Amino acid sequence: QADTKSERYRPQYHFSPKAHWMNDPNGMVYFNGTYHLFFQYYPDGTVWGPMHWGHTTSKDMVHWQEQPIALFPDSLGYIFSGSAVVDVNNTSGFGKNGQPPMVAIFTHHNPKLEKQKPDQVESQSLAYSLDEGKTWTKYAGNPVLPNPGITDFRDPKVRWYEAQKKWIMTLATKDRITFFSSPDLKSWKKESDFGSDAGAHGGVWECPDLVPLNHNGKTVWVLIVNINPGGPNGGSAGQYFVGDFDGTTFKPYSKETKWMDFGADNYAGVTFANTGERTILMGWMSNWQYADKVPTINWRSATTVPRELGLKEVNKGLFLTSKPVKELDALNAQGFTLKNLTVNDQYDLTTKTKNDTGLFRLELATQATNDFSIVLANEQGNELVIGFDKGANTYYIDRTHSGKTDFEKGFGKRHTAPRLSTANKIALTLLADAASVELFADDGLTVMTDIFFPNGAMTKLFIKSAKGISISNLTYSKLNPSIQAG
Ligand code: FRU
Repeated sequence: QADTKSERYRPQYHFSPKAHWMNDPNGMVYFNGTYHLFFQYYPDGTVWGPMHWGHTTSKDMVHWQEQPIALFPDSLGYIFSGSAVVDVNNTSGFGKNGQPPMVAIFTHHNPKLEKQKPDQVESQSLAYSLDEGKTWTKYAGNPVLPNPGITDFRDPKVRWYEAQKKWIMTLATKDRITFFSSPDLKSWKKESDFGSDAGAHGGVWECPDLVPLNHNGKTVWVLIVNINPGGPNGGSAGQYFVGDFDGTTFKPYSKETKWMDFGADNYAGVTFANTGERTILMGWMSNWQYADKVPTINWRSATTVPRELGLKEVNKGLFLTSKPVKELDALNAQGFTLKNLTVNDQYDLTTKTKNDTGLFRLELATQATNDFSIVLANEQGNELVIGFDKGANTYYIDRTHSGKTDFEKGFGKRHTAPRLSTANKIALTLLADAASVELFADDGLTVMTDIFFPNGAMTKLFIKSAKGISISNLTYSKLNPSIQAG
């Protein structure tokens, strides 16, 4: 096995393929104590190409073991994005000897039809596995949902709808979402459309997900819709709607777009199937604007950390919250806590952090009184700035001087996100890996994910505030990915 961990920019606690190109996470499912992550994969290069489903498994969503490729292109086309379910009741009949099958529902994208019949290129198909995802059989009756004449018709996300004992497929159909239902995963009937008059339409709609979340004892449905381009800070991003779903139609409480993550690098995020009460999302930590230009050599892209989703009410609106899963806590290594720290101008944490890798987790609590920033820096003079702008009431990540940025002209920018919380107190969690930061502010109400490519590890850490801030709590932990939980 190659020593991939020492490669420049190689994420240490995010999944990235050992080699070659990856984009969307696919078919995420928890089964018999193992988390499965499949992903859009091109095994013959470091740019997008004929799509396969790569495969990796984990006991904790943090330490991953890459597995052999799960799905290869076939006569119906490339294997585009989709989902996987555990068919507990064997509705599909693919199960054997009382063993429930894992069923993958994906888009077949036929490149041969692109010129002649663009509205026939994409259709939905099935494959199943009886050995926990090791080997897969494509269903002989593919496609199970042929194309009715829509140029973009893809990324099926399927879940069991217990109230009506049927499967619901949430599908991206160009500028809207179409819901289909099925008793057996094989025959599908259209239920309804949503969204041509709602949300952001700066680009095509892709990779949707429909998830029930508990809000004060009531089930509220969140419809996640990824969009490319048209994100709040350019390129690809994930928007969502909060509303009701009755097995046929989705009715949003508001047609306005809400953004799940305001950073530039969380795309195609969807949730794991079969995780019980928990709803856990991972995204592709890149952006179609530059994914194939980033300066990694042997591979391209990683996933975000897994995030537990919830809901929170702010000013009578319901918003999605995303927080790093608790399994990540196991990585916390040497660290310290500072209480009642006053920062006037600048506080240098570097002598305390003694961090030679740049991997850490920082928790910070302060009053929302003045501007402040957290600055990651290195010997090479690169700086990544994560901050709060009191006047604008925004958080931001500025990667303008973060290292290599010239591979794409829009990369070296400052990204902003509105602060939604109205609380006086700010609480932040920041996760830094070799080439990424993930900011979770105000209990996960405002989230930003950005990748960056410094010319050396970000070994220095500062808190800055020109007008001064008082930090009630600052907890710092180095992150050590070689620590296995349990
Ligand atoms: C999103 C996406 C999907 C598609 C896949 C192809 O990033 O464009 O809509 O299924 O990537 O790789």
